[in-house]
Amino acid sequence: MTDYGLAPDQIDTTKPHPARMYDFYLNGKDHYEVDAEAAGRVLDVYPTVRLNATVNRGFIHRATRWLAREAGVRQFLDIGTGIPTEPNLHQVAQGVIPEARVVYTDYDPIVLAYAQALLIGTPEGRTAYVQSDVRDPERIMSAPELHETLDLTQPVAISVNALFHFIPEEDKPYEIVRKLMEPLVPGSYLMLTHSTHDFSEETWRNVIQVYKESGISFTTRSQSEVGAFFDGLELIDPGVSEPHQWKPDPGDRPETTRSADINMWAGVARKS
Ligand SMILES: C[S@@+](CC[C@H](N)C(=O)[O-])C[C@H]1O[C@@H](n2cnc3c(N)ncnc32)[C@H](O)[C@@H]1O
Repeated sequence: MTDYGLAPDQIDTTKPHPARMYDFYLNGKDHYEVDAEAAGRVLDVYPTVRLNATVNRGFIHRATRWLAREAGVRQFLDIGTGIPTEPNLHQVAQGVIPEARVVYTDYDPIVLAYAQALLIGTPEGRTAYVQSDVRDPERIMSAPELHETLDLTQPVAISVNALFHFIPEEDKPYEIVRKLMEPLVPGSYLMLTHSTHDFSEETWRNVIQVYKESGISFTTRSQSEVGAFFDGLELIDPGVSEPHQWKPDPGDRPETTRSADINMWAGVARKS
């Protein structure tokens, strides 16, 4: 039994789960044989998938630091959090603003099982966890844990990283993002990363096939389709870009990273 009263048998080990496959890509330990098998098949057809995951995490860290330091955001709502991976978003945000508040959300019981690691932050700050499916944005935005932690009269940065490629068109992904941003005040932000077929269609045909055979829906989107998630918001420079190209840190050499190794679009935008 975990801290949240979750019995281990509530974790389905008969089929692969996105959070646990991602843990495999990041060299974590919190996945099962079934996940390692499916993730290994992705690795066969997409040998740089581990680099894709690492570059995605690098973007999350830089964008969170930028939001805290340059945009002065003190509240974060991270949806599709994944299994805790250090540094977690609250550790990055609270590293800049110790009193930063962070609410995490995921629909996978494995993330709930490890959520305790997401709840240990600075004494000045605060974190909370909401177990919810992003396809029910009203439930997330009205969750009591969210309102106990975040003040929605002040700006909030919503992050949805490597999440919306799991949401097919029939689940209305663009409408979901609009509903998440709708209750937020001007000065709030959206941070998003998303897999794309723009640089290597064949790789993605093969990757999508592996996910499909594992029972996981996967939809890649083009740069303009990813850009449409930011409609009505002001994109922060450099716009919808490759994650390693988004405000690289001094000393980073993004020009040495091949687009077809990463296959992702990333962006941050402000609600005005
Ligand atoms: C590839 S991981 C990304 C983790 C983290 N956001 C990052 O970018 O490092 C995708 C996460 O989205 C979660 N997820 C997938 N579909 C979801 C849904 N419908 N509602 C909430 N979370 C979902 C998975 O459980 C997984 O933890």
